[in-house]
Amino acid sequence: MDWKKEEDTYLLPGYAKFPFVPAKGEGAWITAEDGTKYLDFYGGHAVALLGHCPPAVVAAVQAQAETLLFYSTLAYSPLRAQAAKALVELCGEPGSKVFFCNSGAEANENAMRLARAATGKKLIVATDGSFHGRTAGALAATGIAKYRQGVAGLGTDVAHVPFGDLHAAKAALEMGAAGFILEPIQSMSGAVCPPAGYLQGLASACEAAGAALIFDEVQTGLGRVGAPSAAHSYGVTPSIQTFAKGLGSGVPCGAVLASPEVASKVKSGDLGSTFGGGPLACAAIAATLGEVSSRKLWENAASLEKLIRDTFTFPGIVGIQGKGLLLGLMLDRPAKAVQQALLEKGVLVGTSDVPNVLRLLPPLTINREEVGILKNVLEQSLLPGAVLA
Ligand SMILES: Cc1ncc(COP(=O)(O)O)c(C=O)c1O
Repeated sequence: MDWKKEEDTYLLPGYAKFPFVPAKGEGAWITAEDGTKYLDFYGGHAVALLGHCPPAVVAAVQAQAETLLFYSTLAYSPLRAQAAKALVELCGEPGSKVFFCNSGAEANENAMRLARAATGKKLIVATDGSFHGRTAGALAATGIAKYRQGVAGLGTDVAHVPFGDLHAAKAALEMGAAGFILEPIQSMSGAVCPPAGYLQGLASACEAAGAALIFDEVQTGLGRVGAPSAAHSYGVTPSIQTFAKGLGSGVPCGAVLASPEVASKVKSGDLGSTFGGGPLACAAIAATLGEVSSRKLWENAASLEKLIRDTFTFPGIVGIQGKGLLLGLMLDRPAKAVQQALLEKGVLVGTSDVPNVLRLLPPLTINREEVGILKNVLEQSLLPGAVLA
C-alpha cells in the first residue's frame, strides 16, 4: 500500500511533509517504514521532550488504557490531581492552579479568557513575530502576519507591538489592557531571546497597568530552555503560563497555569472541556513531569546548549540564538536546502519563519554523541559547494 498517496487522497492538505513514513521511535531516533534511521533534532515537532516512546510514559499510558480510558472532569481523578500538582511544583508557585485542555492553541485561548475575566477588560496586547496557535483567539494574537492572512472573523481586541520594545508595550498596556501575551523566546521567528531586562520590565508594567502577563511556554516550558520554564530562567513570575507540546510526550494535551491571584477569581463553570484532563492524558502528563523533575532534564538542556555553542563554530554558521535546546542556527544561506541535505544524511531539523535560520528542538534526553553526529553531518553539508548557497 502506498500510504503517502492514500493520505493525500483522503486528507485535506496541512503541513508540507517529510518524505518518509515513521514506523517506530526510540529515544532521539525514528525508524522509517523502509528501515532508514533518522536522528530527530526536531523532536517530532517539539513534542518528544523525553525522546520517542519514553518507557515511563508508555507504561503509564498502557496501564491507564487497560483500566479507564476516559471520564471527564465531571468526576475526580487521582491522576489529574497528581499531574496538576507536578505542574504546579515544577513551574508554578504555592497556590497556583491548573486547567487542563487539549492543545497549545486551546491553552492560549483559555489564558486570554482568564485574563479578560480576571480584569474585566478586553484588550490583549501581543508581540510581532509570535505564534500562538490556529484557533480564532490564538491566531488573532499571533504576530506573524502570514498566518492571519485571508482568515476572516478573528478577534479584534488585540494590539500588536514589536517584541523587545518596552516603551511600545507600556503604551499599549496603558490603553486599558486585560493582558499581555508573548512567547518569552520566540520560536517560529528563529529562537529569538528577549533583550536584557525586557521580561522583568514587562512584569512591572503589567502590574502597574493591572494587566495579566501571559507567558506562552508551549515551546519554552518543561525544561527545554535550561530551566523548568522560561519564567524561571528569566526570574519573572507571570500571572498565567500555557503549556502543550511535550507535556504529554505525544498524548494530546495542554495546560493553563494560573497564579494564585488569577486562580482566586475563577468560579466553577467558568472553564470546561470534555477531553481536557482525561485519565489517559493525565497519566501521560504525570509520567512526563515525573521524569523531567526527577532527572532535572533542564540541566542536560543547558549543558548541551554549551556544547553546541562551543563546537558549532565552523564556516556556514554565522550565529546561534535561543536558549537550552530551543536553538536557532543562523546560516549564511537558505536553511531549507540545508534541512534537505541533513535529511538525506539521516538527521531531522526544523526551519523557521526566517529563511536563514535552522531550528533545533531535540528531546531533552539527547546525549553528547548525538550532538556530535549532528555536528559532523552539518559541517559536511555546509562545505563549499555541498549545498546551493
Ligand atoms: C509557542 C506556541 N504556542 C502555541 C502553539 C499552538 O499549539 P498547538 O499546535 O498544540 O495548538 C504552538 C505550536 O506550534 C507554539 O509553538
